[in-house]
Amino acid sequence: MNYDIEKDISEILDRLEKDNISFNNQTVLVTGGAGFLGSWVCDVLVRQGAYCICLDNFASGKFENIEHLRDFANFRFINHDISKPIYFGFSNHPEGICIGDIKKLDIIMHMASRASPFEFRQYPIPILKSNTLGTMNALGIAKAHNALFFYTSTSEVYGNPPEEAVPTPETYFGNVNPVGPRSCYDESKRAGEAFIKAYELQHNMRAKIVRIFNTSGPRIRYGAEFGRVIPNFIHQALNDLDITVFGDGSQTRSFTYVIDEIEGFFKIVDRDEALGEVINLGNNKEYTILELAEIILELTGSNSEIIFKPLPIDDPERRCPDLKKAKQLLDWEPQTPLKEGLKKTIEWFKDLEKNE
Ligand SMILES: NC(=O)c1ccc[n+]([C@@H]2O[C@H](COP(=O)([O-])OP(=O)(O)OC[C@H]3O[C@@H](n4cnc5c(N)ncnc54)[C@H](O)[C@@H]3O)[C@@H](O)[C@H]2O)c1
Repeated sequence: MNYDIEKDISEILDRLEKDNISFNNQTVLVTGGAGFLGSWVCDVLVRQGAYCICLDNFASGKFENIEHLRDFANFRFINHDISKPIYFGFSNHPEGICIGDIKKLDIIMHMASRASPFEFRQYPIPILKSNTLGTMNALGIAKAHNALFFYTSTSEVYGNPPEEAVPTPETYFGNVNPVGPRSCYDESKRAGEAFIKAYELQHNMRAKIVRIFNTSGPRIRYGAEFGRVIPNFIHQALNDLDITVFGDGSQTRSFTYVIDEIEGFFKIVDRDEALGEVINLGNNKEYTILELAEIILELTGSNSEIIFKPLPIDDPERRCPDLKKAKQLLDWEPQTPLKEGLKKTIEWFKDLEKNE
């Protein structure tokens, strides 16, 4: 094994300790906990002494992401689709399943949603359901337990912003196509945010929303079919396949390494200043897609050729967060340079290829 995940988890734990952030003795429900980001969240919670309940239906998550957590007595897994009702602390309820022995939840981290572009085509209805019905169900659980609610929204709520709205602040309302190929994701995340605002208004819900910008790292699904640019390019480079750049490659993205993002999540969950807020977390250093392809070729030493394909419909031209709010409220900034994160991700993918 070239990549050591425990080192990265320790780095997150150290950063949280420095900021006196601890979830010891808290009971936390993580929906989507078997996914890429959710499993990192579970790893941190379990090691901090929280009782971590991971709920997932393996729509896009993997058992391997959480298998090791079975050794911890403070970890529990529930196989369930969050767009269907579920109740905690009730042993009986006319609809949905009941988890009777968990009487009190302190925090709900609602992360369940497929998030890869290929899934927008294959699974638009489950995606819509996870972020609407699923968010409503998760909010219902939070309401019953008077729990803090944390929601993973996305930079996709901004759609394709005009030049003057890049870097994009949280106050930008978005330029989203409601009937386009990405609308199941973009619009359902927007609806998820609206559900949260409604629960805040009507039920005094304590809630926090993060808008995540492109985040990658170990455990992100690997392979060209998954439609996320970093795993695609690395997969193509490691296998000497053509690197497919859409358009002329001049569109920009900004990339965050997973440990920075996870640290940011926990800062949001912890800080009272973040109550009722929507906060961008990402990296504000922009790279063109062509630059990214060239960096991955260099780091992998690959012989792949770069080829160009037509740009997908509604693909945003620029994606870059305004991070002033995260800095001001959380004193958070991404710390990992792109190449460093990519090197670790490449090592992890190489380990995966060896084990296949
Ligand atoms: N990684 C990113 O760059 C990024 C960017 C923006 C937003 N997000 C958001 O962060 C969250 C996690 O994303 P990720 O990158 O880890 O993706 P992922 O696909 O690896 O994880 C999503 C998890 O949710 C689970 N899930 C999906 N639908 C479900 C349902 N109905 N019931 C229960 N579980 C369900 C999946 O099985 C998977 O384990 C998602 O809400 C996503 O929209 C991620």
